[in-house]
Amino acid sequence: MSLHKDRFSFQQQIWKRHLQKGDRAIDATCGNGHDTLFLSKMALSHLYVFDIQKKALEETKKRVGKENISYHLGCHSTFSGIKEKVQLIVYNLGYLPGEDKTITTQVATTLKSVSKGLDLLSTGGLMTITLYPGHPEGKREKEALFDFVKTLPKERFEVSHETWGERPTAPSILLIHKYCS
Ligand SMILES: C[S@@+](CC[C@H](N)C(=O)[O-])C[C@H]1O[C@@H](n2cnc3c(N)ncnc32)[C@H](O)[C@@H]1O
Repeated sequence: MSLHKDRFSFQQQIWKRHLQKGDRAIDATCGNGHDTLFLSKMALSHLYVFDIQKKALEETKKRVGKENISYHLGCHSTFSGIKEKVQLIVYNLGYLPGEDKTITTQVATTLKSVSKGLDLLSTGGLMTITLYPGHPEGKREKEALFDFVKTLPKERFEVSHETWGERPTAPSILLIHKYCS
């Protein structure tokens, strides 16, 4: 199976290659907990999990459990409560498939969160952001994030972009590596 046809295996292979035992990570949009479950098996010392929907956190807790994980009900824009540097931050933007599409990530809070997240990343840390430009807010988020990453200093951050197709609405992943603090 092509890596690019399967969002889960593609992202998960990147996370697996990047993470080391004892690392800390953030799942900034836990949703139903599929990404959280994968990360929870990576021998992390701590995993921070965020979602604005109680239902999403409950679903994730049921799927994953609580060991070495702190669950935060609320917006990821400030990552409140996180004092330590983390080695990985993952975003899967948008809304929960099959649920209320109006409860979606939003440009303003996503940008605030990504900016704060880059401060929280340790040197050598990685941020992955899965983009879904097939719906209006997702298109705005993709454009705003592309503009934002152009402003990042090249000597500190390396940015790359992986896509699953040529269509402008195809989902894709933005990867930001932090080289130095
Ligand atoms: C595409 S889903 C995530 C899917 C999830 N990664 C999984 O594996 O099931 C996006 C999630 O982002 C959440 N969300 C939207 N705005 C948010 C915000 N400002 N802060 C944190 N989570 C948010 C939504 O409630 C939704 O559950």
